[in-house]
Formats: sequence, C-alpha cells, structure tokens
Amino acid sequence: MQTQDNVFEMVAKTLYGLEDILADELIALGANDVQTGRRMVSFTGNKELLYKANLYCRTALRILKPISHFKARDAETVYRKAKEVSWEDYIALDKTFAIDSVIHSDDFNHSKFVAYKTKDAIADYFAEKYGKRPSVRISNPDIYIHVHISHNDCTLSVDSSGESLHKRGYRVEQTEAPLNEVLAAGMIMRTGWRGESHFVDPMCGSGTLLIEAALIALNIPPGIYRKEFAFEKWIDYDHDLFERIFNEENERPFTFKCCGSDISPIAIEAAEKNIRNAGLIKYVDLKVLPFQQYNEAPRPGIMVTNPPYGERISSRDLAGLYSMIGERMKHVLTGYKVWIISYKEECFEKIALRPSEKIKILNGSLECEYRCYEMFEGANKDYKKALHAEDAAQPERRPFRKDKPDRPARRFAAAHARDDRPDEADYASFRERKQDKKPFGKKRFDNKNNKR
Ligand SMILES: C[S@@+](CC[C@H](N)C(=O)[O-])C[C@H]1O[C@@H](n2cnc3c(N)ncnc32)[C@H](O)[C@@H]1O
Repeated sequence: MQTQDNVFEMVAKTLYGLEDILADELIALGANDVQTGRRMVSFTGNKELLYKANLYCRTALRILKPISHFKARDAETVYRKAKEVSWEDYIALDKTFAIDSVIHSDDFNHSKFVAYKTKDAIADYFAEKYGKRPSVRISNPDIYIHVHISHNDCTLSVDSSGESLHKRGYRVEQTEAPLNEVLAAGMIMRTGWRGESHFVDPMCGSGTLLIEAALIALNIPPGIYRKEFAFEKWIDYDHDLFERIFNEENERPFTFKCCGSDISPIAIEAAEKNIRNAGLIKYVDLKVLPFQQYNEAPRPGIMVTNPPYGERISSRDLAGLYSMIGERMKHVLTGYKVWIISYKEECFEKIALRPSEKIKILNGSLECEYRCYEMFEGANKDYKKALHAEDAAQPERRPFRKDKPDRPARRFAAAHARDDRPDEADYASFRERKQDKKPFGKKRFDNKNNKR
C-alpha cells in the first residue's frame, strides 16, 4: 500500500528455507522495513525497487504489491471489501485479469469461491461505475490479482511478476527431476560462493546448478532471459525506468569455470543446450563421466550437487551410489567444500563423513536436507584429529543450523580467494555475443518500436 514519496509495501514469495537469503538480496537492492515470514519477505520501496526485485532477485518466486488489507470471516465480506478498491488504478477497461487465491483459514473452505467472489466484486465495481467491465482471462491475462487469507486477515495484491520467477527463460531441455531454478540459486548462495573458485557439479543433469552458478559468478541478473514481467502491462508502467534498470551494467569477471559432468550422455546434451541458450557456454566445461571415474578435481573449487534420491533407483544401488560419493570425496575432493542435497537419511549415512552443516530444505514436496562436508587437505589422520579436537571443544551440537559456524575445521578449508583479472578480449567477446543473442535482453530495448 502507498505510504509517502511513492514508497509502498511489497511482498516477495520464496521457497521454504530461502527466506533469509531473499531478505539479504532485497536489502542489497535497497529495500527497507524488511521482514521475513514463512516462504515470504515483506519490504517497502518504490517502483524502481519493484522492477529491480523482479529482475535481480535469484531466490524470489514472485513480487506482490498489496493494495488492500482487511479482516473477513466470509466470502461476502471479501466481496464487499474488494469492491471498495479503486480498481481503475490497476485494471484498464480494455484489459483482461485473472485471480489467484491462497487461503490458510478454517473460515474459508474453498479458495476458488473466494477468487470467484473477488472477480464478481471487480466486475460489479466497473459495471456500476462505467457500465462495462474488463474481461476475465485465466491464461496469460494482462493483470494478475492475488488474494491471500490467513485466519481472518485478508490481503488483495497485484502480482508484478506473472509467471513464477523460477521460470527464467533459459531452459530449452530438461532431464528427469531438474531442480527448481530458485532452489538451485538459493543452494549456491547458501554456500557463500560468489565465483571465487571453480564450481563443480558431477551429477549435473540438465545443468541448472551450473547455469545459476555462472549467473551468480558473473553477477548477471536471472531475469534477463524472461520475455516479460506482469508489471509491464500495468497502468503506471514506466518504460524508460525499466529500460534504464534493464541495461545497467553490473557484470563482473569470472576467471574460473563451472565444471559439469554426468553419467548420462542425454543429460549432458540437455545441459549443453540450456547453457548455450543462456549464452554461458564459455564459462562451463561439460563431459560425460560416471562419478566413480572422477579422479581429478580442479582447484580451488567447491562442489554442489543433487544426486538421485531414489525414486527411480533401487535402494541397494542407491546405497552403493552414496558410499561411492563418500569414497570419491575423501580421495579426490580434498580441500573442497562439498554441498549435497538429498532426501533420505540412509543416503547421507552411506557417505560416511561428518557434515559441518545440515540445513532443512524443501525440494518440491520432499523434505530434503542440504549438507556441507569440509574435505580437509592433508592426511586422513589429520582430519580425524581435527574432528576429535573439535568434538572435545564442542560437546553439544545443535542438530540444524542455517548460519555458517566459525569452526576450527574451517582452517583446513580450501583457500578460494584469488584476484585474477579476466582476459579482457574474452570478456569483450562475451559481451558482444550477449548483445547479439536473442535471449539476452540488452537488445530488448534497443528499438522502442520493436520491443523484443
Ligand atoms: C536428480 S538428477 C540432477 C538434476 C539436476 N540438478 C538438474 O537440475 O537437472 C541426478 C543426476 O545424477 C546423474 N547420475 C546418477 N548416477 C550417476 C553417477 N554414478 N555418476 C554421475 N552422474 C550420475 C543422473 O544421470 C542424473 O542426471
């Protein structure tokens, strides 16, 4: 809702477990009054921030702009209150709209009925005031209205994103069980990695982690591949402002590589198509390679991976896969931090290494865990000794922690920092290609009469 100097309230939705990362992203963009909730972050800011949040936030699913808050215990009250909104500020008569509702309340049984009553309120508002009304369109409407009810607290919002922001627009191929792009970005950001070393995913599937990693390392906004954001059809849309934001140059050099491999040639083919479509192939090395044959890791490096969880693999094979992962980590990935998302405790047990962090995370509907293993440099006995010393110093362990503990073990972690400058020619060629390529949006506003 509007406050002063065109500052208004906004709500960014996210996945469970990524709220604090999203809050940090929003603060970095200049958001004020930032508060985290369950799968959401509320904040205030102006139109510029609204556009930036859509374009830049890697861990946001959508950005809502609340336009009315009220209390209601029944759909009739929702209808009455919704009719009090000045809808012509948001929906032009010749535009289409759709309503989406999320209800967490015992007073309301049917979210569809609430959406239906809100649609009636908007239609009746226009019909009574103007003698005609905008049309409802379920797919690809001009304006998305969102109704949220928690107990008897109702909020009507306009959705500035439209299609969920995890749909970045770079994916042309997918393999089985690809990670949600927002989850992949959140997992990488949780590690603290921002491009200071090589990034390795030896079970890369369609390449989601590799692409999100390259975008993070290069500081490329994840939204630049999108065809559109819903706010571009808003009545108050400021094309010049968005054009300026869209064409801001914030990219930074990335002097390492994202290294992806997978046992499946089909997966590597899909990953290559996606990475090429994102214009990032220069930053990624890909190969077909079973992890059991992984004998050399680039250094310095970090590994983030999403092995199979077991839906399409027998439990015996799954146990074998995870003990092989643990064995490769010990022998090949010394000096690495290895982050693994998985679903079953039995899988983690087979890795047979002690994690330094355990984070609960939802992958779709699966309650997963995201664990970090710090693979010590030096002999295995030093590793055991260090763990032993750590145990003695720290008898009680909190089972789950989201913050990054400053443990003695970290002394053994890989030294990632390096201040190499990129090859300027390579970087320039990337930039040129970026300007040429359709998926990259820098071209998007080059010709105002022929947008996109
Ligand atoms: C859950 S999928 C990864 C999905 C990926 N994160 C994405 O977003 O597309 C797991 C991947 O592990 C690969 N895989 C299974 N066993 C492997 C092995 N022994 N070595 C290497 N890759 C393996 C599968 O081929 C599959 O692509």
